Amino acid sequence: MNKKCVFIYTIGCQMNVYDSEMFKKVLNPLGYIPVEVVEDADLVIVNTCTVRKKAEEKAFSFLGRMRALKKKNPELIVAIGGCVAQQEGAAILRRMPYVDLVFGTRAYGRLKAMVEKFEYDRIPHVDVEMTMGIAGEIVTPELDAEVEVSRFVTIMRGCDNFCSYCIVPYVRGREESRDPDVIVDEVRALVERGAREITLLGQNVNSYGKKEGLCDFPELLRRVSEIDGLLRIRFATSHPKDLSPGLVAAYRDLPKLCNHIHLPVQSGSNAVLKKMNRKYTREDYMERIARLREVRPDISLSSDMIVGFPGETDADFNETLELVQEVGFSGIFAFKYSDRPNAPAANYEDKVSDEDKRRRLDKLLVLETEISRTKNLLYAGKTEEVLVDGKKDGKEGPQWTGRTACNRVVNFTVTGGVVEGSLVGTLVPVYIEEGLPHSLRGVFDMKGH
Ligand code: SAH
Ligand code: SF4
Ligand code: F3S
Repeated sequence: MNKKCVFIYTIGCQMNVYDSEMFKKVLNPLGYIPVEVVEDADLVIVNTCTVRKKAEEKAFSFLGRMRALKKKNPELIVAIGGCVAQQEGAAILRRMPYVDLVFGTRAYGRLKAMVEKFEYDRIPHVDVEMTMGIAGEIVTPELDAEVEVSRFVTIMRGCDNFCSYCIVPYVRGREESRDPDVIVDEVRALVERGAREITLLGQNVNSYGKKEGLCDFPELLRRVSEIDGLLRIRFATSHPKDLSPGLVAAYRDLPKLCNHIHLPVQSGSNAVLKKMNRKYTREDYMERIARLREVRPDISLSSDMIVGFPGETDADFNETLELVQEVGFSGIFAFKYSDRPNAPAANYEDKVSDEDKRRRLDKLLVLETEISRTKNLLYAGKTEEVLVDGKKDGKEGPQWTGRTACNRVVNFTVTGGVVEGSLVGTLVPVYIEEGLPHSLRGVFDMKGH
């Protein structure tokens, strides 16, 4: 079998990152080896996102570049996968005739056969079938003997929540959970190859297993946490409406569960939350945080926010600002509302002007930077446990990098001895000397001072 090269460009959420790893694995038996330079590729795959208009545009602009490459090398196979592929299907082939394969979010089980057939007959093909039962088909994605310190594991696919602004339920299909035994085996296999931190992924992990009558999410966390050699567990994303007492108990009982939760609130206004179909109020949200803080008083919280949802007034937006102040998030991902095909909000009246959206976004980001800077300053003088994930050679000797349990980036140097082997993959206590706006700087004293 000839050795061939595949280049994968991944846009979008962590689930796409996971899926791209899986593509590498399923294409390996055809002789495809992943490469980092697109010009070296025999097969190019762009794994796409359509959550906002901008993400979609990014996919099309990348595909646009493939036109010239294909002219130079007519043998090149160009494939588009993921959420834009699912949404647009055959329309992509009409718009971009140099694209060969379009495969949707539930077609990865058929990807190998698709590519193999195309190599033989060169007939363009579209597969956007919304088959169910694919959660069980996920294959452990790693190819290499060694893997990164921090890895993702998808535990469920799809979403049943239908928030009114969101396209995900239409492009990812209904919720489906994977078997817990398979998940535990996959995590164990990753840990054996060097992973020390696992992030469990789903659009709404709190409803894991409910439909299928499998174990619930807190039970899954318990099972994963028993794996020897695994040091840290994270998860994303957790929907506030389903944050259960069982999850609070998991935070109380499981030391490997990181002291951080990403709990997207989207808005601080009850009127907006209702129109978004989020199924919780601002008060419910605050109450859930209070329960988490009872068991983990210093837990760090991050969130997603949408500004300029249809009908959002300045008063609504001010409630979002107040909520951000009140909670004291350690990080926020803030987005301007974007109309999406199929999502009901696209038909809502009272659209907010782009100028107002921009103004609100800027305000929110200024507040966020301020809060995050103040929080980081408070770390100075403290010692934090850091999971080391890399090393750079700087002017003043080696610089190590890692993250705290709260997910803050730490850059540090080592004193008091010479590191034998590597610190990567270990937990070390780092004395924080300085809190910068987006990271912390410190030192690890090997003599333990
Ligand atoms: N399942 C996750 C979110 C996945 S999408 C959850 O419910 O938390 C990631 C984020 O994109 C969302 O939290 C939301 O803030 C943002 N988003 C989704 N649709 C959007 C839209 N139409 N316009 C702007 N932002 C959007
Ligand atoms: Fe979209 Fe809501 Fe589902 Fe998240 S929970 S993916 S925001 S519909
Ligand atoms: Fe984007 Fe699809 Fe993820 S739309 S956010 S890549 S589920």
